[in-house]
Amino acid sequence: MLDTASIRRQFPIFSRKIGGRPLIYLDSAATSQKPLAVLDRMRKFYEEDNANVHRGMHELAERSTAAYEGARTAVHEFLNTRYPEEIIFTGNCTEAVNLVARSWGRAHLREGDAVVLSALEHHSNVVPWLQLKEELGVEVKWIDCDDHGRLRIDMLDAFLREGNVKLVSVTAQSNVLGVRPPLGDIIATAHAHRALALVDAAQSVSHHPTDVQALDCDFLAFSGHKLYGPSGIGVLYGKREHLESMPPFLGGGMMIREVYRDRFTPADIPQKFEAGTPPIAEAAGLAAAIRWLGQFSWENVENYERALLRSAWEALSSVNGLTVLGPGSSSPRLCSGLSDGMDSDVSGCLSFVVTGVHPHDLTEILGCRGICLRAGHHCAQPLHRQLGVTASTRLSVGIYNTVEEIKLAGQAIADAAGALRP
Ligand code: ALA
Repeated sequence: MLDTASIRRQFPIFSRKIGGRPLIYLDSAATSQKPLAVLDRMRKFYEEDNANVHRGMHELAERSTAAYEGARTAVHEFLNTRYPEEIIFTGNCTEAVNLVARSWGRAHLREGDAVVLSALEHHSNVVPWLQLKEELGVEVKWIDCDDHGRLRIDMLDAFLREGNVKLVSVTAQSNVLGVRPPLGDIIATAHAHRALALVDAAQSVSHHPTDVQALDCDFLAFSGHKLYGPSGIGVLYGKREHLESMPPFLGGGMMIREVYRDRFTPADIPQKFEAGTPPIAEAAGLAAAIRWLGQFSWENVENYERALLRSAWEALSSVNGLTVLGPGSSSPRLCSGLSDGMDSDVSGCLSFVVTGVHPHDLTEILGCRGICLRAGHHCAQPLHRQLGVTASTRLSVGIYNTVEEIKLAGQAIADAAGALRP
């Protein structure tokens, strides 16, 4: 069991009021709130250790470098990578995917090669590949999903049999529907056809354990700020052999071995991909977030958040005119399948539409009452198009939320929807 009251006391932001009401934060899929353990660690870093890394011989530089490389070790253990050097620090998850597209993609893809994406993808795992399509003539193929958000894996098989697929790049968890594709099957199928597999784990890392060796993915990306850590830092995991085969992405200080007037030689991994001063305090903060989250068992986190989502579905499905998208759909046809879907496939968030009500109007009213949800296409326009809507409202959870908050939000959504409906 999680002690939610104790968890909440560790988040200063929850003592804040908005419009005289307690903050109800249901937007953790956009970014999580930060516990004192992270805030204190970053403050301590700047107060006691601040210096650049890998450059100085003085005590501060040594402490700073130890904090930064210690964070790499923390992420290496968190993801169960084979080697710490397989962890590259980036600015965010988007930059990590771009690194693969610009470096591995440019080095290994040619006109006519194909990259397979799923209908569930966030734009950060779409646009970099569309850019390569424009630049190199790479084909981008899409695995559709059904009304439940379940991927048409038969389409992946058919694409792979065509023989030109070099990479399958999929989310571990939809940032709109909360759906979790069968990653193990997808990766094994890709490998059976000699394609690599990239996992966008931005939405899943704070909700479920991630073991890259068990998954056998070739690349995996996530951001610190959705993992109770700071913004400004992301992670790219890549299997050593792939990272070693890739040219540097950005050029500058620290990513080189030698520089001459007419040429340079790159450093080994991971430095080869970490040009310039990296996010040092952010790395220390990310390591603190990983340590903080590590005090809870994944089983407790998963059970608790499942209960939160279930109460959200119950609160929302009784609102007049409201339809939950995907597996949580409140249409009578899909209701019976809910418990299966909720238990096995859906995590972190639910999105919904209300007939005749624009999500922006709804969330603005809720925002004035201190209830934070996200409205819009959530950087997933292809998915919204496939679902036949232009925008939705998303409710997403973290381990600091309570069933009581969800009930209050559900009532507020019902009131606002009732007031806004024509
Ligand atoms: N990718 C983040 C979201 O889904 C920002 O809200």
